[in-house]
Amino acid sequence: MAGKLTMIVGPMYSGKTTELLSFVEIYKLGRKKFKVFKPAIDDRYGKSLVKTHTGLEVEAIAVEGSKDIVNLLEEKIDAVFIDEVQFFDKDLVRIVKQLIDSNVDVFCAGLDMTFKQNPFETTAALMAIADEVIKKKAVCEVCGEYKANLTYKVTEEEKEIDIGGKEKYIAVCRDCYNNLSKERIK
Ligand code: ADP
Ligand code: TMP
Ligand code: MG
Ligand code: ZN
Repeated sequence: MAGKLTMIVGPMYSGKTTELLSFVEIYKLGRKKFKVFKPAIDDRYGKSLVKTHTGLEVEAIAVEGSKDIVNLLEEKIDAVFIDEVQFFDKDLVRIVKQLIDSNVDVFCAGLDMTFKQNPFETTAALMAIADEVIKKKAVCEVCGEYKANLTYKVTEEEKEIDIGGKEKYIAVCRDCYNNLSKERIK
């Protein structure tokens, strides 16, 4: 039977990695064979861990790009888990397609948008071919409502690829994002 692709997307702190790890747990309990990958660029928690903002973690393989995933998949496995999928090259889409066609379930977690609200291309393309898209939200760090679907950058740094946590980024709702942007221009 063909595998399926599940995408877990949303802003920072929305529980994407937590949800990814809960799927890992299900495969672990079922004694399935699986591998967990992350991009080497995300060095926040050491190279070989996928970790949530609350400290949950699993062992992972840090890879430079999507072709390293194919190279590491010689034996037959049941599932592949990939965190921070927004940092992968677009070729990941073709590789994921191959995996689901060869009966492997694939779960990817990642940001849908940059702090400038530009779509992350690899995430967007994977969402298009996914069997299921889980769009998460966070608690808005300005108004406190559980409706944050955007990430706001609190520093002046304009780079759209910039690893970090609360010292750089907060989760906000659209109204609070617009208010913060207006205040910044004043
Ligand atoms: P993601 O991978 O989407 O950034 P994680 O799964 O690593 O998220 O972390 C989710 C956890 O982050 C929540 O369970 C909560 O404890 C914490 N957290 C911190 N800030 C927020 C916020 N603004 N909204 C929701 N959860 C938050
Ligand atoms: P998280 O979704 O697990 O919280 O991690 C997101 C990572 O992406 C974090 O290292 C910060 C980084 N990031 C960017 O590089 N650019 C962005 O525009 C945003 C919002 C986050
Ligand atoms: Mg995460
Ligand atoms: Zn808000």
